[in-house]
Amino acid sequence: MTLNEQIKQAAELIRMGELVAFPTETVYGLGANALNPLAVAKIFEMKERPSFDPLIIHIAHINDIEPLINGMDERVHKLASVFWPGPLTMVLPKSDIVPDIVTSGLPTVGIRMPNNPIALELIKQSQCPISAPSANKFGRVSPTTAQHVAKQLPHVMCILDGGRTHVGIESTIISLNPEGFEILRHGVITQEDIEKVLPYSPSTIQNQAILAPGMVKSHYSPNKPLYIIGESLPENLNTKKCGIIAFSKLPSQEYKEYFVLSEKSDLRECAVNLFAAIHRMEEQPVEFIVVEPVPEIGIGIAIMDRLRKAAYRYR
Ligand code: TXA
Ligand code: MG
Repeated sequence: MTLNEQIKQAAELIRMGELVAFPTETVYGLGANALNPLAVAKIFEMKERPSFDPLIIHIAHINDIEPLINGMDERVHKLASVFWPGPLTMVLPKSDIVPDIVTSGLPTVGIRMPNNPIALELIKQSQCPISAPSANKFGRVSPTTAQHVAKQLPHVMCILDGGRTHVGIESTIISLNPEGFEILRHGVITQEDIEKVLPYSPSTIQNQAILAPGMVKSHYSPNKPLYIIGESLPENLNTKKCGIIAFSKLPSQEYKEYFVLSEKSDLRECAVNLFAAIHRMEEQPVEFIVVEPVPEIGIGIAIMDRLRKAAYRYR
C-alpha cells in the first residue's frame, strides 16, 4: 500500500473512533478524534495514562482553532504566524465543543499545528481535530520512530511510518497571561525565541491547577536506572555494566556501550538523538545508563529537563 493509501485508511479509522499512531516533527503521537469522547478514552486506556493528564489537540489550519477556543486573543494569531506549523503548543481557554476528557476537566486546552506532512494530511482527511499524546506508555520514553511505537504499544491498529522525527523532543508548551507568556514545558522553541514576539511573564499564581510534564518530577523513565554524571551518578559504579550517552565525545573507553549525541556539539542534533539513544540503551545488554550533561543554554534547557525527569526515580 502506498503512503497516501495508508493515510486515507488511517483517516477512515479516526473517523470511526479508532486510534492511529502518526509521526509529527517532535515525537510520534497516538491520535483520536478530539471531539469524540469515547475515542479519546481509548488513548488513556492504551497508554495507561491517568485521567488527570490532559491531551494536546492537533490542527491542520489556523482557522481550525476558532471552534476549539473561547474568544480569540490577537496574540494567538501572532504566535501562530511565526511558529506554526511547528513545535509550539498554546494553552488557551477552551470552548464547549472540546470534551472534558481531553482537558481532564480543565477550562483550558492545549493546541498545536504539527510541522509534518503526514500529520497534516491525516488531520485534513480525518476532517476533525486530532488529540494526541506521545505514543508511549505513560511515564516512559517518547517514541521518535515507528519501531519505538510498536515496542511500547503493540496493540495499536495502525502506525503511519514517517521515519525518524526531525526535532526529537516534545513541543514547547506555553500559557498566555495578561502580561505575556509562561513556559509550562521547555522544547526547541526557547523562551528567547518567543520573547521576540511576546514579553516573558511567569505567572505569579503558585500551584495552579494545571499539570504539564514540566511540572511532574518523574517522566520519560527508561526500563533501567539512568544516572547523570555530576548529579546522580553513584560512586564505584562498574562501568563495564553501563552504557554511556555522551554529549560530543566519549569521556572514556571503559563503558560497555556508547552513543554520542552530537559530534559537532550541536544541541539541536542532541535533541533529535536523545530519545533514540535512550531507547537504544534500553535494548542493549547493559544494566545502567549513564548520561553526560549538556550545556544548559537554549535547547539544552529542554534536554536537561528530560534527562532529570528520566533520572529522577534513580536518585
Ligand atoms: O510534541 C508534542 O507536544 C507531542 C506530539 C505528539 O504533538 N505531544 C505530547 O503530548 O508531548 P503529551 O500528552 O505526551 O504531553 C502533553 C502535555 C501533557 O502531559 C499535559 O500535561 C500538557 O501537555 N497539557 C495539555 N493540555 C494542557 C492544559 N490545558 N493545561 C496545561 N497543560 C496541558
Ligand atoms: Mg508524553
